[in-house]
Amino acid sequence: MLSKIEHIALAVSDLEAAIDHYTQIWGLSLEHRETVEDQGVEEAMFRLGDSYLQLLAPLSPESPVGRFIRRSGEGLHHIAYEVDDIEQALSDLKKSGVTLIDEQPRTGSRGTKIAFVHPKGNLGLLVELVQKS
Ligand code: CO
Repeated sequence: MLSKIEHIALAVSDLEAAIDHYTQIWGLSLEHRETVEDQGVEEAMFRLGDSYLQLLAPLSPESPVGRFIRRSGEGLHHIAYEVDDIEQALSDLKKSGVTLIDEQPRTGSRGTKIAFVHPKGNLGLLVELVQKS
């Protein structure tokens, strides 16, 4: 079902400071930046080999990432796995009794199709499925 880790997402409260951190301390270069209103975030993507490191900053304190930071602080937010057929993956997971946040794919950044899987029923890990177009 899973072909690779597409990205690892980190919740940050100050996107500019976090971009500076990953640029200056870790030597990564920013490849993509996008506001995703649907998810209430502004994101920054750094290519890391065959995958990405994704920084997510909340657009408002009441957005899901805003609430996450208030509850758990900054840090690891989710892991995104790439799949070839997201509808099939969602249907297989549902049959296995996994709790889905998105029963149907929606549009993610970079024109991808994405869906989130609830951490409950997945050993505490929030997972995003990504299908590239
Ligand atoms: Co993501």
